Amino acid sequence: MTESHSLAGGAGPILAERVAVVTGAAKGIGLGCARILGAAGAAIALWDIDEAALNSAAEQLRSQGIKAQPFIADVSQSSAVDAAIAAIAGEFGKIDILVNNAGTHDGKGIEEADEADWSRIIDTNLKGVFLVSKAALPHLKETRGAIVNMGSMVGLVGQGKSGAYSASKGGIIAMTKNLALDLAPYGIRVNCICPGWVETPLVNQWFALQPDEAEARAYVDSIHPLGRIAAADEIGKAALFLASDLASYVTGVAIEVDGGVTLGY
Ligand SMILES: NC(=O)c1ccc[n+]([C@@H]2O[C@H](COP(=O)([O-])OP(=O)(O)OC[C@H]3O[C@@H](n4cnc5c(N)ncnc54)[C@H](O)[C@@H]3O)[C@@H](O)[C@H]2O)c1
Repeated sequence: MTESHSLAGGAGPILAERVAVVTGAAKGIGLGCARILGAAGAAIALWDIDEAALNSAAEQLRSQGIKAQPFIADVSQSSAVDAAIAAIAGEFGKIDILVNNAGTHDGKGIEEADEADWSRIIDTNLKGVFLVSKAALPHLKETRGAIVNMGSMVGLVGQGKSGAYSASKGGIIAMTKNLALDLAPYGIRVNCICPGWVETPLVNQWFALQPDEAEARAYVDSIHPLGRIAAADEIGKAALFLASDLASYVTGVAIEVDGGVTLGY
């Protein structure tokens, strides 16, 4: 059987006419995802809490010919999430793709973290995926859309000094599989990306805190078999695959995009 779909035979951009919501899109991996999905033809709802960075990201994307609109909301606050989804649906008329990317890391293990630290990380990284996915669901049902969650290699192999972060990322991987099962009857695919180290403001802050930044960068590059950490756009390319019809038969997977850092022992 020959299948005909929007990306075969040069029929136009892969995501033409699609609307994508990207959380945590003002910088880092979220901005990389927004840029790659936008370059593939999608209109982008850029979602973040950092208003200044969000506006500058929207300007940057528009200057590259991408239709991008900023929305300010905290993914861990249900009333703000519901209002943002309503505003996005009002602006764009539909939602085809949701990239649940917003997240943060505090570098704290069980001895350093207190209850407030635990709640902040879990609420942003994990509860945020629940709240945004739930609010977007009626729209994704209408479009038989796709969700891409941002996990981490940390959710697969763990990481020292990151108790709540590790738990949140492991939770995202498990939740991806739950959502894939629950939403398959609606034609909604749900997948997860597990990046290794990626060059972003979050990672650059960590490098800056190390006693010898250059040595830390060289070490982190060296633990990746491909010899370097990722650029944000390289994670965006995986998001494009999972969000597009290229992955029409892929659901419930956690895909490592990590330069091989989780290989070997
Ligand atoms: N950088 C890496 O090496 C790496 C590796 C694996 C996974 N990740 C994951 O990728 C995602 C993005 O990481 P990054 O490195 O680009 O981080 P970043 O800090 O550079 O960017 C994250 C963005 O999310 C926004 N954000 C934070 N909390 C928010 C909230 N409550 N509501 C809305 N927006 C919020 C921030 O304002 C920021 O713009 C995170 O989920 C992170 O855990 C990052």
